[in-house]
This record gives sequence, C-alpha cells and structure tokens, in this order.
Amino acid sequence: MSVLEINQLSAFYGKARALNDISIKLDKGEIMAVIGANGAGKSTLLDSIVGLTRTTGDIRFEGQLLNECSAADIVNSGVGYATERFNLFPYMSVYDNLMVGAYTARDDVEQNLELVYDLFPRLKERETQETGTQSGGERQMVSLGRALMSSPKLLLIDEPTIGLAPKVCLDMAAALRDLNQSTSLTILITEQNVNFAMSLAQNLHVLETGMIRMSGTPEELKANPDLNKAYFGSS
Ligand SMILES: Nc1ncnc2c1ncn2[C@@H]1O[C@H](COP(=O)(O)OP(=O)(O)OP(=O)(O)O)[C@@H](O)[C@H]1O
Ligand SMILES: [Mg+2]
Repeated sequence: MSVLEINQLSAFYGKARALNDISIKLDKGEIMAVIGANGAGKSTLLDSIVGLTRTTGDIRFEGQLLNECSAADIVNSGVGYATERFNLFPYMSVYDNLMVGAYTARDDVEQNLELVYDLFPRLKERETQETGTQSGGERQMVSLGRALMSSPKLLLIDEPTIGLAPKVCLDMAAALRDLNQSTSLTILITEQNVNFAMSLAQNLHVLETGMIRMSGTPEELKANPDLNKAYFGSS
C-alpha cells in the first residue's frame, strides 16, 4: 500500500485553480521531489495534503481518505509539515519551538529530541537562542526539527534549501538522507533547486502552472531535453 496516494487533485483559491488534476503516489521509505518555479503550485500542493486549501479529487494517507479531515487530525494521524514560511515563534527559544511540534507525540519527546539534535547538532548548541535572532539556515533546521518532533510517518518539506548557502544545502541533503535511511521515513519535498532535488529523490515531478509536465527518476529527467532547457538553460 502506498503511504500517500493523490488522485486527480485540483486546488482552488476563490475561482482561480492553482492545481490541476495532480496524481502522485509515494511508497514507504521513498523520497519524492516536486520541482517548479515561483507560483507553480508547490506550496499549494503541500497545503492541500494537510487540508489547508479547497480541493477536489482524492488524497489518501495509508489508505485513509484525508479530504474531509481537519488539518489537526491530519497532523495527528502522522503527517509532519515543515512549511516554507516556517511560522516559528520568534520570541521563543529553539527548544520551546521544537516542543510545539511535540504536542501530538508526547510519549516520544525524548527520543525525537535526540534524533533532531543528532541531525542538527547546531540546534543543541543553540537550544536557548530565540529563533527570531537565528540565521535563515538555522531557522530552516528548527522548522524541520519541529516537524520531526510530531513522530511523522510522512514528512512534507516545502523548499528545504530556500536561502541556504551551497555548503549548507549539502548538509541539509545529508541530514535528510540519514533520516530517511535510519528511520525509513517517507519524504515529499518541493524545490526550485533542481540539483538538490535530484541528489536526494528517487522520483521527481515537474510542476508548471499547477500541472505536472514531466515525471521520472533523476536519470530520466536529466536525459530530457525539455527539462534541461527550462532549468539549466541549455538543451
Ligand atoms: N492564499 C492565496 N490566495 C490566492 N492565490 C493564491 C494563494 N496562495 C497562492 N496563490 C496563487 O496560487 C499559485 C500557486 O502558488 P504557490 O504558493 O503554491 O506557488 P509555489 O510554487 O509555492 O511558489 P514559490 O516558489 O514562490 O513559493 C500562484 O499563482 C499564487 O499566486
Ligand atoms: Mg511556495
């Protein structure tokens, strides 16, 4: 059974259609990336999975239909979401922001905190720092860490490399790979950084104006002249 199965999903803001007939499937332990330019619909896709938009079509998590569920129920059922605009509490410490994520998984707090600090040792060093004074990359780590504190079975990450230096992108890729390998966590990321996405994901989809234009493994997409033209400026 797939962990996540989306069939013919469309999403709407008022009358405007931001996603058009999206179908994707993720198996347990898979890392999938959805790549696309600004406004392609990446955040809308992840928001839709956790019930934050008006949609048509089916979204199933471990076989259960999510469409009628509240965002709180969806997170409770095991979907962690590290959002693009991270929504951290700026006047709270790193530790307290992480604990907000632990709200739905109180039995696993110690174990999850250890996992987060292993992945991002810098967060342990900065445990008492207010997140509002942290760098963009550090906040990205807190956002991801907070999603992990909820013991997710499926982790959604919106543009994990946004604003990160190339070296920090490599660290982030290594952290996500470790996490995936050590816990078989299923991960769906969105990205504009095609190289990062290809270095991490087994399967990718290219989103353009709310529609999937191309799909495949990194090797298949690298061989596709349309993708090369759109993202690397050459054919
Ligand atoms: N709350 C909203 N109300 C109206 N339109 C919206 C809203 N949120 C997003 N949109 C529109 O939906 C489309 C998809 O936006 P979305 O934020 O999903 O794109 P994105 O791929 O995440 O872009 P970016 O890379 O800039 O984050 C855009 O045209 C955007 O203007
Ligand atoms: Mg976005």
